[in-house]
Amino acid sequence: MKTILTGDRPTGKLHLGHYFGSLENRVKMQYDYDTYILIADVQALTDNFNNPEKVRENVRELALDYLSVGIDPKQSHIYIQSLVPQTAELTVYFSNLVSVPRLFRNPTTKFELTQKQELFGNTGESITYGFLGYPVSQAADIATVNGNIVPVGEDQLPHIEQAREIVRKFNNIYGDTFNEPEAVLSDNPRIKGLDGSEKMSKSLNNCIYLSDDDETITKKVMTAVTDPNKIRKDDPANPEVCMVYYYHKLIKNPNISTVCTECRNGERGCVFCKKELARNIIEFLKPIQERRKYYEERPEEIERILKEGTEATRKKAEEIMKRVRENMKLNYFDE
Ligand code: TRP
Ligand code: SF4
Repeated sequence: MKTILTGDRPTGKLHLGHYFGSLENRVKMQYDYDTYILIADVQALTDNFNNPEKVRENVRELALDYLSVGIDPKQSHIYIQSLVPQTAELTVYFSNLVSVPRLFRNPTTKFELTQKQELFGNTGESITYGFLGYPVSQAADIATVNGNIVPVGEDQLPHIEQAREIVRKFNNIYGDTFNEPEAVLSDNPRIKGLDGSEKMSKSLNNCIYLSDDDETITKKVMTAVTDPNKIRKDDPANPEVCMVYYYHKLIKNPNISTVCTECRNGERGCVFCKKELARNIIEFLKPIQERRKYYEERPEEIERILKEGTEATRKKAEEIMKRVRENMKLNYFDE
């Protein structure tokens, strides 16, 4: 059976972009793979080392989000990255296998650097070793469970490519040890924001969170960007440029062709159309929010799930690391 390794940083609540970008895929795939889902607290600290409370609080939030979307603890090991120290060990060995210029060329790292510079006016002086190197530790996350398959959103592709290079180099030097991991994208690897921007993202303030209540969802949907040429409710419009239509499609409104025809014929007002969308999103999130409520009321169950998931991951990681130490001639007392 092939192995899935994937996860997120615990830095905030998950939203519809995460759901359609990757979570939905992970939920489906967990039944056919040995699945490990990491809560990347160590990686979250690379950006939040001066705010450990934030990371700590969000570990439980992320676990709640995972469980509420249907990551099934009987199928998947949900674990906390810092409690699998084998990853840290492998990160050190991997760090010899990647050059500093290559790390600077990683497109996602580059993008994050410009973002930081815009936000904080950072100069090169404040780029930490931890930030630049986090893709190396991400490669180690995947390799410590010998992962084959990594279901992620589009922004993670450069990291998976980098992981493949590192693993290939390791295998060449020390002998065949790891699988080369493959990224798996969803049908919609990047979900647009309600405001029409290219990405639903916390920092752009254009998200519907999986935990938003009905009123919040309705309010947010009412602000969505529609066809700017439609002024009156019986003006014909073009649904293809409308975010409301985009979301109707995304959550698979069974009446999608009616929405389209009525919009094109000027037989549908935008307010009506938005209200319908809000109702559908609320309906769609209902089972997710019911599961959330179940777990919110049972914090001891979440704790048990995380403990067991972490234990199982550590066990697998130690098996793999034994092989790594052997292949690297570091198995001093094992013979
Ligand atoms: N980089 C991912 C994020 O930003 C989190 C992550 C850490 C990850 N290690 C991983 C994802 C390994 C996939 C595989 O959320
Ligand atoms: Fe968009 Fe619906 Fe208005 Fe058409 S009627 S522009 S699909 S909100």
